[in-house]
Amino acid sequence: MRTVRTLGLLGTGVIGGGWAARALHFGIDVLAADVKPEMEGWIRGAVENAEAALARLTLAPLPKKGRLSFTTDLNAMAGQVDFIQENIPEQLELKQRVLAQVSRHAPADVLIASSTSGLMPSDLQRDMLHPERFLVAHPFNPVYLLPLVELVAGRQTSAATIEAAARFFSYIGMHPLKVRREVPGHLTDRLQEALWREILHMVNEDVASTGELDESIIYGPGLRWAAMGTNLIYHLAGGETGMRHMLRQFGPALKWPWTKLEAPELSESLIDKMVQGTQAQAQGRSIRELERLRDGYLVAIQQVLRQFDIGAGATLRALERRLYEDAAATAGQRLRSSREQGTVPRLLEVEVRPEWVDYNGHMTDSRYLQVFGDATDALLRHAGVNERYRASGRSLFTVESHVRHLAEARALEPLYVTTRVLELDDKRVRLFHSLHRRDDTLVATAEQVYLHVSAGKAAAMDPVLRTSLEELRTAQARLPPPAGAGRVALAPR
Ligand SMILES: NC(=O)c1ccc[n+]([C@@H]2O[C@H](COP(=O)([O-])OP(=O)(O)OC[C@H]3O[C@@H](n4cnc5c(N)ncnc54)[C@H](O)[C@@H]3O)[C@@H](O)[C@H]2O)c1
Repeated sequence: MRTVRTLGLLGTGVIGGGWAARALHFGIDVLAADVKPEMEGWIRGAVENAEAALARLTLAPLPKKGRLSFTTDLNAMAGQVDFIQENIPEQLELKQRVLAQVSRHAPADVLIASSTSGLMPSDLQRDMLHPERFLVAHPFNPVYLLPLVELVAGRQTSAATIEAAARFFSYIGMHPLKVRREVPGHLTDRLQEALWREILHMVNEDVASTGELDESIIYGPGLRWAAMGTNLIYHLAGGETGMRHMLRQFGPALKWPWTKLEAPELSESLIDKMVQGTQAQAQGRSIRELERLRDGYLVAIQQVLRQFDIGAGATLRALERRLYEDAAATAGQRLRSSREQGTVPRLLEVEVRPEWVDYNGHMTDSRYLQVFGDATDALLRHAGVNERYRASGRSLFTVESHVRHLAEARALEPLYVTTRVLELDDKRVRLFHSLHRRDDTLVATAEQVYLHVSAGKAAAMDPVLRTSLEELRTAQARLPPPAGAGRVALAPR
């Protein structure tokens, strides 16, 4: 498969819009195709709405945002992209026809995935050219915040297709779950539908309202599910002997049975009860308002789970690791070429994100430290302070920072950071960062001293790290000292 630089979308409704927002946020260009020209305005709005929550997901340095384009020419889209994600309505014949059509315009090494909620991949790929590059990649709404994507192979799908798709989805911060074999509804929708059927029965029989049934999840199982799912939680419910005891104790109830399995008839009266119930729960809030609320807590939950390195929090951590590593790799390339040319390296390029701007319309103080911190992180990672190094209990801590503000930085302004290593000894390094506008105007400087620690105590750096930083310091020693340097010094302690 190709490296995905441009993602093609087929169908730009709720799910297409979600895919676009996620891909663009992580630096992938998107070419969106829909038969309705009015969907261009819709998808641009959807991407903008998603951005508010996405922007809060991580502080890790992000690549430049991707570019969004739109077309009503599905075949032209297929010829210009590196990966196609289909999100048209859930109708087998329509999907089969459109997939067969675009497969004749997409080069053979372009993977084609369907977002289908429950159709079988073998049926969808039936009339395609190069069906081995087709798979189901089923996401969850909102696609830009929920990491799960179920990957399902059809009879003609190659193993390489599944592996390549999994790599791409991980790259954009998702958790690809490889489904062992195709079944209608895949895994999650089959489970969700079992619950949904029981809900419909209980509302139909006036056992409970929609609100009461939601309470039965929100205050109990819902909180457990986010990190441990059903099975591991039941294992805990069995006491010391875990699942074995649990099955012995509650197993017989499975035969009673509590559940109905067959869905009730969707009568007008049931539909009315469902609609009135959820309207009452919404308490006059619009769908947009509720979406904002949902997006806000979905971000917060993932950040909490990150602390425990569990579930979606572990996925977020993995994404951040990748983002920091990519920033360090870019910094490494720039450090090498700057050493050869005897110039000061541009360690980081950033764009002032809208949420970094305060009520004066300028980048707020704390974001300067974040940007300089990211430049330091990229430099130190390149020099050897990677995950393994930190896992050994060693790291560098900031002990002094002196920031000078010389010009304003406005929303969406592109900026870059250059970095000098001014002083170095066994345990400490003094850096001098300069933040510039694209026209080289100096916006701010930061002079910072970092202390090397091992198990929380000051300790000598690893010789490889020390040498790497020393090489940079020596290469820069010929340059005149940066203006404004020297306010912070390596004072004896
Ligand atoms: N909505 C969800 O929660 C959800 C979740 C996961 C997966 N899915 C799946 O994603 C797919 C899309 O669902 P949705 O909710 O985004 O639907 P939607 O109705 O919001 O969007 C479908 C889009 O496809 C466009 N379209 C119709 N025919 C087309 C064609 N021939 N070529 C190109 N575009 C065409 C429509 O104009 C529309 O913009 C379905 O297969 C659905 O099962 C939906």
